[in-house]
Amino acid sequence: MKKTKIQAWLVAALLLLAGTTDTSAQVNGQLWPDVDGQHINAHGGNIIKHGDTYYWYGENRPYRGFTTEVGVSVYSSADLRKWKNEGVALSVSSEPGSDIERGCIMERPKVVYNAKTRKFVMLFHLELKGRGYEAARVAFAVSDTPEGPFTFVRSTRVNAGKWPRSFDEQAIARAKTTDASAWKEWWTPAWRAEVEKGMYLWRDMQGGQMSRDMTVYIDDDGRAYHITSSQENLTLLVSELTDDYLDFTGRYEMVAPGGQNEAPCIFKQDGTYWLICSGCTGWAPNEARMFCSKSIWGPWKQLPSPFAGPNASYRDMPANKTFGAQGTYIMQMGGKPVFMADIWNPRHLSQSLHLWLPITFEDGRPRIVWTDTVPGR
Ligand code: GAL
Repeated sequence: MKKTKIQAWLVAALLLLAGTTDTSAQVNGQLWPDVDGQHINAHGGNIIKHGDTYYWYGENRPYRGFTTEVGVSVYSSADLRKWKNEGVALSVSSEPGSDIERGCIMERPKVVYNAKTRKFVMLFHLELKGRGYEAARVAFAVSDTPEGPFTFVRSTRVNAGKWPRSFDEQAIARAKTTDASAWKEWWTPAWRAEVEKGMYLWRDMQGGQMSRDMTVYIDDDGRAYHITSSQENLTLLVSELTDDYLDFTGRYEMVAPGGQNEAPCIFKQDGTYWLICSGCTGWAPNEARMFCSKSIWGPWKQLPSPFAGPNASYRDMPANKTFGAQGTYIMQMGGKPVFMADIWNPRHLSQSLHLWLPITFEDGRPRIVWTDTVPGR
């Protein structure tokens, strides 16, 4: 009798302890534990809601080293606070020569649900093993369930043989007069004019355009768009995806040619698309850039960075350095946009911090200030 009482007490104490592993203690600028107390290893990713559950996908990064040894992680949560590690959504391959062979680089995975095919589709930036960042491909994977395992479909450059939808015959003829190999000196006004003419489009026309940092946006009508840093990270491309989200339709447009925008994050509010990007300084933080447009196809108007206000309590990082972070996704939380970012830790990439900040509007423009508390807490 006594023994069973003690057992029951022990069970109750354990349950209480388990219940108090409440990650609502997650604070911006600190490590974020999952329900097992491990820092959430899902970087450069996104969050979707399916049924009553949120799924958080991201790069599973090593503590030491740089290349992808595991794949893309997935975590689940009912409340955006307590995150359970669901393991590996897309695994690297142990097959030599596979596009996703262990030691490749998988970055910025984004998972979306296709209501027509009832599949979960993952797009990510892929670099082939042993080739640094030269492959510059986008890759596709697909799954019937949100936790995966996702099946790798293929990797590719984008829009091979296609010109942007706004390029008429004259513009195409002009682009064909350019020669990227002739420019030893970059950043001159003459060089910039050639980039705007489509110098890199022409250079990469046959094999397809480069694709590195990227996101996927699903519009209200279910159409999906891939937004990527292309042309040596100089120019963004917005490309329409096919109905199954597993290919490109060939309709695309350049955004800010020569503007060096990375880490594209997008949301739409009251009919306006807002695009928030970073500059191009690797893992080091820089000043964010913002664009807005009434149509996904532009014209996109550039505005000042939306980051404002006092420095972060994290290492005193200022607003003009995006508080030390680089964006990864804009999530809708209770109908309000939240900017998700990574504070990279290049020495220990798995330990890179997560940062979620609410996007508010002031004078009709997005504004993002530092808060220690995470939205929804
Ligand atoms: C950043 C980019 C990251 C990663 C890194 C590598 O600019 O946003 O996704 O590619 O460079 O240095």
